[in-house]
Amino acid sequence: MPGKIVIGAQWGDEGKGKYIDIFAKSADMVVRSQGGNNAGHTVVVGKETYKLHVIPSGILYKDCVNIIGPGVVVDPESILTEIDGLQQKGISTEQLYIDPRCHVIMPWHLTLDALSEKSRGNSDIGTTKKGIGPCYMDKAERSGIRMHDFINPDKLKTSIFQAGARKNEMITSLYHESPLDLDIIFEKYCVFADRLRPFVKDTTVMVYNAVKSDKNVLFEGAQGTLLDLDMGTYPYVTSSHPVTGGSCIGSGIGPTAIRECFGVVKAYTTRVGKGPFPTELFDEIGDYIRERGFEFGTTTGRARRTGWFDAVIARYSVRVNGLTELILNKIDPLSGLKTLKVCTAYKINGKIVSEFPADFSELEHCEPIYEEFEGFDGDITICKTYAELPASLRKYVEAIEEMAGCPIRMIGTGPSRDNVICR
Ligand code: GDP
Ligand code: IMO
Ligand code: MG
Repeated sequence: MPGKIVIGAQWGDEGKGKYIDIFAKSADMVVRSQGGNNAGHTVVVGKETYKLHVIPSGILYKDCVNIIGPGVVVDPESILTEIDGLQQKGISTEQLYIDPRCHVIMPWHLTLDALSEKSRGNSDIGTTKKGIGPCYMDKAERSGIRMHDFINPDKLKTSIFQAGARKNEMITSLYHESPLDLDIIFEKYCVFADRLRPFVKDTTVMVYNAVKSDKNVLFEGAQGTLLDLDMGTYPYVTSSHPVTGGSCIGSGIGPTAIRECFGVVKAYTTRVGKGPFPTELFDEIGDYIRERGFEFGTTTGRARRTGWFDAVIARYSVRVNGLTELILNKIDPLSGLKTLKVCTAYKINGKIVSEFPADFSELEHCEPIYEEFEGFDGDITICKTYAELPASLRKYVEAIEEMAGCPIRMIGTGPSRDNVICR
């Protein structure tokens, strides 16, 4: 049975983790295909909150197979901390598999992420400093360390000392910082390699066989469409492909293996890190949304920038991801606002632009054109059906659906698994 994919249709943190967890209840397998521990996916179950970074959000169901596909970059220390944390909470990681093709994030990637951000000064990207960009750089340059070499005791030493020496050269001569101690790294990473070895298996065969044998396979996106290396607001993007197409490459399957494409959007917009954000709010409404939506990064704790819903972005995401359905998440934080605004187009150099521009600098001076909607009041987390939602809110939902050009199938009314309305 062709699978289902859930991606972020804005700048990340749309609530993908919550929906993966909901869909995973009936899934046989959940697959991560790109990104690494820059992601932070929150799953709230009763009083317990799980913050997942590189481990798929299907891990909470013991019979669900969880795959870290070839396109993911894996930080050994970080994933082991995550595994330990889950096990301490009684969650089994027996059904977790890491593909041997995954590139490994090494300590020099973290160092170089921090140093290159520092050297950019005011033009920094605002990365998560998890070494993601430098690791994908090595992958593209064909000098990275893949998981199959990392767990091979005959190869690890050579890999670490060869790659490490080159990176120390950069750290000392380009950035004038002290070199990393490769002996200490080797000692520490031998232990990590031993612990990770049992998880490593060719996952591409597992995913293919699952799809072929009619299993329910779920592909979990990380980051969001506007952080995509090609389709996002370059250079203020991540170094992988969060769009739906990225899932095929990053899990080693063809496009015929996926049928349903769900895009998650918030009922407003947020972004962490730098870069253009046309509908950003710098006033008390922006603060209101941040506080009510608890918009602070799951991975870095940074306050997220907040703004009105942008229908230009939603339409763009529907197009570049081939979305078949939208999930409109986090409508509850908007409760109490008298007026809600939706950006329908941009005015750039006096011209009305309704397609998302390729050159981000055009966005820096654009003026959003808004349509206004009547707000709503009250606690909507208690609503269980669409009909129970306030009429003005339903009007807002239907207008977004019309502007985005894609049906809204689910609506998020609170952080928990149960706070979802299906239409
Ligand atoms: P992800 O990266 O896309 O998985 O999203 P994050 O977990 O980084 O951020 C989403 C945040 O919003 C988390 O704190 C969730 O618990 C919370 N959340 C998810 N859905 C809802 C919702 O419908 N309403 C509210 N108020 N919070 C939600
Ligand atoms: P999830 O999966 C939101 C952002 C960073 C920065 C840019 C590049 O939780 O939605 P990187 O460390 O990837 O080189 O940083 O991308 N970023 C995210 N923003 N959610 C994420 O993941 C993100 N992962 C990276 O803030 O602007
Ligand atoms: Mg997140």
